[in-house]
Amino acid sequence: MRMTVFGTGYLGATHAACMAELGHEVLGVDVDAVKVDRLCQGEVPFFEPGLPEILSRHVESGRLRFTTDYAEAAEFADLHFIGVGTPQRKGDFAADISHVEDVVARLAPLVSRDAVVAGKSTVPVGTAARLQEIADRSAADGVRVDVVWNPEFLREGFAVEDTLRPGRIVVGLSDPECAARALIDEAYAPIMESDPCPVIVTDLATSEMVKVSANAFLATKISFINAVSEVCEAAGADVTVLADAIGMDPRIGRKFLGAGLGFGGGCLPKDIRAFMARAGELGAAQALTFLREVDTINMRRRDKMVDLAAEVCGGTVIGTTVAVLGAAFKPNSDDVRDSPALNVAGMLSLKGARAVVYDPQALDNARALFPTLAYADSALEACEGADVVLVATEWGEFVELEPAAVARVARGRVLLDGRNCMPGERWREAGWTYRALGRGVSA
Ligand code: UGA
Repeated sequence: MRMTVFGTGYLGATHAACMAELGHEVLGVDVDAVKVDRLCQGEVPFFEPGLPEILSRHVESGRLRFTTDYAEAAEFADLHFIGVGTPQRKGDFAADISHVEDVVARLAPLVSRDAVVAGKSTVPVGTAARLQEIADRSAADGVRVDVVWNPEFLREGFAVEDTLRPGRIVVGLSDPECAARALIDEAYAPIMESDPCPVIVTDLATSEMVKVSANAFLATKISFINAVSEVCEAAGADVTVLADAIGMDPRIGRKFLGAGLGFGGGCLPKDIRAFMARAGELGAAQALTFLREVDTINMRRRDKMVDLAAEVCGGTVIGTTVAVLGAAFKPNSDDVRDSPALNVAGMLSLKGARAVVYDPQALDNARALFPTLAYADSALEACEGADVVLVATEWGEFVELEPAAVARVARGRVLLDGRNCMPGERWREAGWTYRALGRGVSA
């Protein structure tokens, strides 16, 4: 089957490569000519484990191509996926859906036979209906462009796995009988044959809301444990043991109860804000006021980390050196969008510390975003002369650091664990002061 994928970021490039892996002929489309050039050479412009291998393989075989040419894309296929970004709008917290609208407004007039546009981007409820109006207005006489919604649930770092073996496929249709359904079924048929998963077919609005609700729930779960973590700190309790214990109840589950610096990235923070903004537009603002608190709790963890650094430095970080291990918003990613790690490094620096940042993959992106911070090329180099070592992203190589090796280069003997990922006991035995978010001093 032939298909196009508009947008070649984390979502679009992964979807395009994975669709080729499933046996389809795929044309990826982006307005960014530089990005398209790199992709045409089989290069992935961001870090995503497993993606370069499948993308380059299918570029080489000719099953996967990339272009900036909308007319070529309109001609190439009858199924067009959209995976362009919906960033947080400047000025308010709503999602900017202009990129999604642009794709439909530009593509629809170029389509010469009936076609289906399947949105994958995370959008405010009502967007698909609006896109259908744009398509109806812009398509040539006698040509029908159907808009359907097929939200994506992939996690960065596991994008290939999540796309090829999804936990569920959600399809929103304006009309349950519409012909679009058959094209979507055909696209996912190879998954249904090899690794079947539940398929939920519903209306457009529900399918759009499934995605934002899922992300809002995940964010709420993280902020719940981080709120409990604040009480644990006050009471001298250990949030990690508590999370293990409550997580054993299958109604709760242990996943996403990782207490620490909280959530960042290009999805969870902006999605909960956009969800609140959209609820407000719909007259249902009150229903989601709790998400404001979810956001506040999340941001407060970053302040707490900075306060803890000041506390272990005797009340102020002025004049100290803090090694910040981690810049990406989570491990196995080079994404620094709304990264708690970089936010903490920035705040420490503003408060007078010399924050020296290291990350195994995200250094280039971090340097571009925060050029004034100091950067190191290895964890040990970041720790040279450090009064405090602060783990802000739980990369495996930090967890495996040898306390003795760090002690040889650092000035102080204080390890702050912002992700509850370090073997604290080992560090204590090696003579370090180990402090972690959400755990009493004795934990
Ligand atoms: C998230 C969702 O998990 C995906 O299902 C969704 O498809 C995606 O957003 C999206 O909307 O595109 P992602 O942003 O890649 O995926 O990252 P997550 O693994 O969800 O982590 C988000 C943040 O929460 C990270 O900063 C992570 O460190 C933090 N987190 C996660 C915690 O603080 N504690 C946890 O227990 C889990």
